[in-house]
Amino acid sequence: MTAVDKRISVAVLGSGAGSNAAALIDRSSANDSSYQIDLVIATRGDAGIVSVASDRRIPVVVLPAEHWEESLLSALQSHQIAVLALAGFLRKLPESVITLLEGNVLNIHPALLPRFGGQGMYGLHVHTAVIEAGESITGATVHRVTQEYDEGAILAQMSVEVRAGDDPRTLQNRVKTIEHRLYPEIMNVYCQHIRDSTSSPPNNPKPQL
Ligand code: GRF
Repeated sequence: MTAVDKRISVAVLGSGAGSNAAALIDRSSANDSSYQIDLVIATRGDAGIVSVASDRRIPVVVLPAEHWEESLLSALQSHQIAVLALAGFLRKLPESVITLLEGNVLNIHPALLPRFGGQGMYGLHVHTAVIEAGESITGATVHRVTQEYDEGAILAQMSVEVRAGDDPRTLQNRVKTIEHRLYPEIMNVYCQHIRDSTSSPPNNPKPQL
């Protein structure tokens, strides 16, 4: 395998249905993928993301309720993970994890940040707030992860319309369809940059969508 063929090792961390994990894993099987998903980490054993990973034969670690920071660090180290992709992770990520991965931690948020982000803005709460605010456009954002909720540099966004008659769930479904396009493409560009250069990944990867 040449340096150009080498794929960057990525882990996905979440607690939800796992649809973004599925999209990231499925995209990584393409010939031109710059990354591979080597590990899925879940905060609950009964989360959908666990079966998504098992069905695709990706190793899974379920974090314990206590001392989960140590378990997370040890899982990332033992699998030699270079990039962590959050997808439905509802806690603050410890600084030790961001330091270990040299800042290579991304998240997907189901709205157009900086609007509709921050503590408590997750899942259907986000889509309810968007509808109640009377927005006609919403979308998804991929951003770097920092110590604060939804505050890292924005890497890319895609928008969708809010339709008359939408309820939080129909809107969530529409946003998820673009999340599944956006996240894998940004991950591909991001990891391509890590692989092909010695400099830090750009803050604006400019994917071809
Ligand atoms: C997604 O909507 C993502 O934007 C948010 O959490 C949700 C996870 O969904 N951060 P899934 O588990 O990937 O289906």
